[in-house]
Amino acid sequence: MPAPNSIAVETRLAASPASGRDLSAFRRALLGWYDRHRRDLPWRKTRDPYRIWLSEIMLQQTRVAAVLDHYRIFLERFPNVQALAAASEDDVLAAWSGLGYYRRARMLHRCAKDLVQAHGGGFPQTAGELQTLPGIGRYTAAAIASIAFAEPVAVVDGNVERVLQRQTGVNLTTPQTWQRAQAILANSRPGDFNQAMMELGATVCVPGEPRCLVCPVRKWCATQGEVPRAAPPSRQKKEEIWCALECRDGNGTDKVRLVQRPKKASLMAGMWELPQSSDPPRPWPDAAHWRTFRHSITVTDYTVHVLRNKSGAPLKALPAAKGKWIAIDRIPQIPITGLTRKILKAGGII
Ligand code: ADE
Repeated sequence: MPAPNSIAVETRLAASPASGRDLSAFRRALLGWYDRHRRDLPWRKTRDPYRIWLSEIMLQQTRVAAVLDHYRIFLERFPNVQALAAASEDDVLAAWSGLGYYRRARMLHRCAKDLVQAHGGGFPQTAGELQTLPGIGRYTAAAIASIAFAEPVAVVDGNVERVLQRQTGVNLTTPQTWQRAQAILANSRPGDFNQAMMELGATVCVPGEPRCLVCPVRKWCATQGEVPRAAPPSRQKKEEIWCALECRDGNGTDKVRLVQRPKKASLMAGMWELPQSSDPPRPWPDAAHWRTFRHSITVTDYTVHVLRNKSGAPLKALPAAKGKWIAIDRIPQIPITGLTRKILKAGGII
C-alpha cells in the first residue's frame, strides 16, 4: 500500500493538465482569459526586443504602477539601444532614479554597449544567446525570446512559481518548476502564454487569498486555494535615520545641499542624496523637525525623520556641512536616490 503522502501527491498531480487533450483545453482557457482580461500595458503593444527587455528589467522587484511613468520617460530619453549605449552612466542613472535597485540600470547600460559593439545594435534571437549578455539571466532571456521572437521557451518568475505550486499541489524544486512550465507552454503563442501565466499570478492567483472563483483554469488546479503553508517570516529589518533638507537662495537660483554616495558603495553607488545620519541629532532641534517618512530599500524598512531649515538659516543638528550646494534646476540631470526624490517632491522642491 502506498504511503499516505504519495497518495496525496498523485491525486493532486492528476488535477493539473497532463495529457494532450487536457493540455490543449487548459492552454485555450488560459489564453482566452488573457485575451479578454489582460491589463493594457505599453510593453504589450510591441514586439521590439529593446522595449520588451527594458520592461522586463524594470518590472524585476518593482510594481507595474511604479514602472509605467519611468518606462515612458526612459524611452523618450533613450528610444533605442544606440541612444542608451551612447549615454553617460550618470544620465542613465538619472532616468532610472526612483526605481531603486540601481545595479539593474548599470547592467542595462553595459548590455546596450555590448549590443552595439558586438551585435551591430541588434538583439540575438534565442534565449540561449541572449543569456550570454550582461545582466540577462534565464528569466529575462526567455521573456525576450518568447515575446519578441516567439521562441517556445517558458519563463518562471515568482508569480509563475506560485501558480504552478498551487496547480500541482506539490512543493516543486526550482528545476521541476522550470520543467513543468516548459511542459505546459503553448508553442503556438509562447509570448502570450508566458505573460498569461504571470498575469494570472499577479491578478488572480495572488499571494495570500487567491481569487479562485474568477480563475479561468481552476478546474485544473489541485489545491483550489487551499494553501496550508504558513506565511514566511518577514526578512525586513527596521532602521531609523535623520536627514537634513537644507535649502538656500543662491542669487536667484535656489540650491539644496546634497551628498554624493561613495562610487564603490554596494547600494546606489555614486548617487546623490540628502545629508543623513543614523544617530539622532543631540540636542533634538524640535523646531527643525519637519516630517517623518517611511521608505523601504531591499530588506530594510526605514523611518526617516527630516529636519528642514527655516528661511535660509543653517541646520546645525546634523552633519549637513558635508556635501555640495546643488542648483535645484540641475537636479533632473543628476542621479538622485529614490528617498531623496520622495522628500524633495514632498517639499515642493522638484
Ligand atoms: N511580469 C514581468 N513581466 C511581465 C509581463 N510581460 N507580463 C506580465 N507580468 C510580468
